[in-house]
Amino acid sequence: MKTLTLIKPDDWHIHIRNGAVLKTVLPHTAKQFARAIIMPNLKPPVTTVAQALAYRDEILQALPLRSSFTPLMTLYLTAQTAVSEIKKAADSEYIHAFKMYPAGATTNSDAGVANISGIYPLLAALEKNDLPLLIHGEVTDPNCDIFDRERQFVDSTLTKITNNFPNLRIVLEHVTTTEAVDFVINAGSNMAATITPQHLLYNRNALLAGGLRPHYYCLPILKRESHRQSLIKAATSGNPKFFLGTDSAPHLTHTKENACGCAGCYSAHAAIELYAEAFEHAEALDKLEGFASFYGADFYRLPRNTDTISLTKTSWRVPLYYGDEANNITPLKAGEEINWKIL
Ligand code: NCD
Ligand code: ZN
Repeated sequence: MKTLTLIKPDDWHIHIRNGAVLKTVLPHTAKQFARAIIMPNLKPPVTTVAQALAYRDEILQALPLRSSFTPLMTLYLTAQTAVSEIKKAADSEYIHAFKMYPAGATTNSDAGVANISGIYPLLAALEKNDLPLLIHGEVTDPNCDIFDRERQFVDSTLTKITNNFPNLRIVLEHVTTTEAVDFVINAGSNMAATITPQHLLYNRNALLAGGLRPHYYCLPILKRESHRQSLIKAATSGNPKFFLGTDSAPHLTHTKENACGCAGCYSAHAAIELYAEAFEHAEALDKLEGFASFYGADFYRLPRNTDTISLTKTSWRVPLYYGDEANNITPLKAGEEINWKIL
């Protein structure tokens, strides 16, 4: 049987929510990953160190017994964030970054930033305190075509940020376009990007061809095939600027199978297996370990993990849902086969 052994990976972008959903989803991530960057877009958002520490406690309480999983906390940047809070976050061993959502760009982003130049003092404080800024890179102009929102953001806003704050460490989250990939490649070593499994495995046909399939709807939205090819090339290139971030974003099934369905794909149940499929298909399984287990840790200046996980080439069928019947989450590839399995 074909086996693949890797240094235990980390997930550099995940939504695990709180309350009952947290209890359903956390064991999936804790089984596969040593650490994960926890997104702060709860309702209300996690905007202070005190809130992040309380959220961290809730996560630790929800962990399976004997799990050694470590949540890496982030704060949600708003126009009201105090420079003193940035300093406090930099001094905390538990806070690893700030997340910036353009206001209204995605799920729970109402408190996000409407005017980027209005928060320049905060970006200056992040740069000075050497705390990474994690960016949801899409413009929110309702006149901008949804398939162009990332490209527009890169051209306008991101270029402005990097010109004004050349030493700010930035992760452009969940990149989905050739333009974003090229921008990251050409930027300095203080700029990196995460890539999700769904953007490596699917193009927009998965969402729209032959019927509307809400479980493939996430933001940034799936793009055309040429962009997927660029992402595969970046992820399997061995360039340390690109690393694993699932953006696993659980929503209850009925809120996605809905006249106005929520954005977010749930992938934590099979994250590393999904990446293994994508890398195998690109004949680049030898590049998976760097992408999944090394480059993110290096960028965040954390030690690389030392224990390992193993995957075997065995197919298994993904359940139709996780959680209880009334409050369930439909995972990516629900009811389909995946041909790698974590031991
Ligand atoms: C995320 C969510 O549901 O919190 N949704 C998504 O489509 N990716 C938010 C985000 O990361 O954009
Ligand atoms: Zn996300």
